[in-house]
Amino acid sequence: MVAFENEHKPLDVLVLAAGLGTRMRSNIAKVLHRLDGRPLINHVCRTAAALAPQKIYVVVGYQGEDVEKAVLEEVGAEHAEFVVQKEQLGTGDAVNSAREFFKDRDSTLLVLSGDVPMIRPETLAQLLQLHLGHRGKGAACTILTVKLSDPTGYGRIIRDDGGRFEKIVEQRDATEKERDIPEINAGIYCFDTRKLFETLTHVQNHNDQGEYYLTDVPALIRAAGDDVAIYQHNDPHEIDGINNRAQLADLENLLRRRTNTKLMLDYGVSFIDPRTAYISERTNIGRDTVIYPNVTIEGESTIGDGCTIRSGTRITNSQIGHGVEILDNSVIVDSTVGGQCTVGPMAHLRGHSVIEEDSKVGNFVELKKTKLGRKSKANHLTYLGDATIGEETNIGAGTITCNYDGKQKHPTEIGNNVKIGSDTMLVAPVKVGDGAATGAGSVVTKDVYPNTLVAGVPAKKIKDLAVNDADAASGETRL
Ligand code: UD1
Ligand code: MG
Repeated sequence: MVAFENEHKPLDVLVLAAGLGTRMRSNIAKVLHRLDGRPLINHVCRTAAALAPQKIYVVVGYQGEDVEKAVLEEVGAEHAEFVVQKEQLGTGDAVNSAREFFKDRDSTLLVLSGDVPMIRPETLAQLLQLHLGHRGKGAACTILTVKLSDPTGYGRIIRDDGGRFEKIVEQRDATEKERDIPEINAGIYCFDTRKLFETLTHVQNHNDQGEYYLTDVPALIRAAGDDVAIYQHNDPHEIDGINNRAQLADLENLLRRRTNTKLMLDYGVSFIDPRTAYISERTNIGRDTVIYPNVTIEGESTIGDGCTIRSGTRITNSQIGHGVEILDNSVIVDSTVGGQCTVGPMAHLRGHSVIEEDSKVGNFVELKKTKLGRKSKANHLTYLGDATIGEETNIGAGTITCNYDGKQKHPTEIGNNVKIGSDTMLVAPVKVGDGAATGAGSVVTKDVYPNTLVAGVPAKKIKDLAVNDADAASGETRL
């Protein structure tokens, strides 16, 4: 939560997100395009929520249902309200479509653009502070601006001889001389809500696009004799607007650079080549972890201290303990890896799999919704699905849990200190008791008692094993 002095009026936030985003050349609404794995609109709504407004109103139109879903996932139904803009007639029309909610409301309205995702809550708090404190009584409108070395595409801020705000001119309506102005409109504003809706009724669409521009409102407010203030910010990237895919890729790059630099300087993470490590800003990584080139870590993932993550690995929404070694080209999704484990190369963990500390999952091994206990191993060429495996158990090369009968999935339970022989097929549902063993090539269709050796197709009991002496019949047993 970011605090700002607001003794006066309630704060509402209105996010403009109805446009298609023609310049994206996409069938997907612009605000649903992803930055750091999350839709642009989610970034903006999360930032807005940090200011604790009464509500976040989102103007939706193009693919409105999908945009609503994305917003609800981010901020929850109690904080969001949706306004439908039937036709996308411009940013002024977009705000105007919320008239029913706001026309008689005595509040401060913070207007955000759904395509300006990097803006920080601290910056918005400063904007609000300036707006509310302007000349002791507050401004009718305050505009967030920044100076850019290349302002192409943005609306320019025209100031009068005294340096006071005069008007905003859009790129396509600007004269040559106006286009030289480096100060641009970030598309983020504070308004006195009543003043805004009064003024919107006077906005015309006499411009190059034939649209109703929100950017005409500040000049009209000024012409009516009310104060328009400017908050000039100094971080140009925070107000980067996404209008095409090149800008989106640039921003993705920038965010990645910032994230990796922070991980190196503040968290003590090493990168062989930070330019090729794709790490989500929502990831936590511990001290002395080393990240090799071409590693992707997405979503809400946590990596412990002293881990090594080799090239080509992807980790998505997963928790990795301390001292873990993840070898090349492994994929870990929605899963948990305990401390001191080794994974890979070319291993695949998914479906909320858990491997407990000191366990090992090796080459071409796939785990789906499976728990592998402490100090257990599945080193080569194995599929373990819907399985629960105990501690200090060895799963021989080529073992498969046959968990699907064509209609349903079935569980496999394997106890502690078990030796599953190479190429064993475990036809689920099936249980293998503690200390049991299966011979190479067994097809296990019935439960195996503890401390028993089974083998064959279908597997039959060969003999009892001495308690805790499963070693006598190793996974390599040849019968
Ligand atoms: C807008 C500003 C420009 C500013 C820039 C900053 C206007 C006229 N221009 O231009 O001064 O420099 O943002 O990024 O406001 N939208 C709707 N309904 C519509 C049209 C747009 O909801 O009918 C939404 C879009 O989904 C988008 C936002 O408003 O999230 C901005 O629209 P966009 O078309 O991207 O405006 P820009 O050309 O970037
Ligand atoms: Mg834009």
